[in-house]
Amino acid sequence: MLGCVFSARSFTDRRPNILAERLAAMRAAGRATIDLTVSNPTVVGLPYDWNAIGAALADARGATYDPQPFGATVARDAIVSAWGTQGIEISSERLLLTASTSEAYGLLFQLLCDPGDEVLVPRPSYPLLEHLARLSGISLVDYPLVYDGVWHLDVDLVARRRTAHTRAVVVVSPNNPTGSCLGRNELGALAQLGLPILSDEVFGSYQLGEREGRVRSALEVDSTLVLALDGLSKRCALPQLKLAWIGVGGPEHLVTEALARLEIAADAYLSVATPVQVALPKLLLASDQTVAALRARLGTNLATLRAACAGTSVTLLHVEGGWAATLRLPAIASEDDWILGLLEADGVLCQPGWFYDFDFGPCAVVSLLTPEATLAEGIARILSSAHRRGG
Ligand SMILES: Cc1ncc(COP(=O)(O)O)c(C=O)c1O
Repeated sequence: MLGCVFSARSFTDRRPNILAERLAAMRAAGRATIDLTVSNPTVVGLPYDWNAIGAALADARGATYDPQPFGATVARDAIVSAWGTQGIEISSERLLLTASTSEAYGLLFQLLCDPGDEVLVPRPSYPLLEHLARLSGISLVDYPLVYDGVWHLDVDLVARRRTAHTRAVVVVSPNNPTGSCLGRNELGALAQLGLPILSDEVFGSYQLGEREGRVRSALEVDSTLVLALDGLSKRCALPQLKLAWIGVGGPEHLVTEALARLEIAADAYLSVATPVQVALPKLLLASDQTVAALRARLGTNLATLRAACAGTSVTLLHVEGGWAATLRLPAIASEDDWILGLLEADGVLCQPGWFYDFDFGPCAVVSLLTPEATLAEGIARILSSAHRRGG
């Protein structure tokens, strides 16, 4: 009946999952939980220089509307230098601003795909992609990331998932939640597939430890069309300011055509507010102390998890970057039993692996954004639960 009124692609199953139900019941009963799932950087006690951020946003140039599909030159120039200091070379004509990376995904799906087409995405990865794809009328086909103590992208496995409808391949580096980064050999082999590479690099400023041969950006390759995503939400821990961008690279004729088409699409929305564009050069500087504190927290939390899990039945999977870590739990109970037990018996909220399509036994994903003392208490409770259960 509703199908006569609404599109199939706007339908989602809105029933709460069992974890959401049990959590709501605990909260209603006034029971406190240690929350290891917070992914919003603005609510975890990080220091922000609000005077500088406020002053940047109050720039009088923000009062005049001067719509430009690619975004203001002052903002794009600031991105060129910010990326430049990280070794990513691009000219400002190859940058397009959007209000978020999620919006950028939507634009790129529309650029590359017709309804019914397919895009290859890593598994495990970030669940929002599924919604964005459905809303664009396309399908995601996953390719597995392989774990053998370190995460790998096996291009043969990617190639096997390709069909006549495949229009692009997504890489997320560092990936959410595995924290794995793309290696230079992996990128080179992927480029040989000849598919456009949609490279989500939003966590690129948060590398945890060194890895030989890691690439900072897929824009390093120029044999295929590359669309690289970054933005303020992770880079500066400022998701509420709604500014992200797409860098376009690859063969000249494809770049020219992609930019021409993106210009029309971006012009139809003009979704980025002027004050944040004008403020960008100063926002990038004003966030230095936030990012430094955040990097220190990620490092401390990872070290805490590593030390706590050593010699126990809970394994911390290898992390190379990003804001999350994955714990492999002893296979003495199902993942739902573990996650619900941790919540109800131990008062610890973790994300289940199924949320990200992990498929190798019970896992819990924890946020490295968590304040240090909270994370230390949370992992202590997880380990004591594993011990009590005989894992
Ligand atoms: C890998 C990844 N890409 C993109 C996003 C979305 O970022 P934005 O706030 O710019 O839409 C997220 C959000 O968590 C993410 O984890």
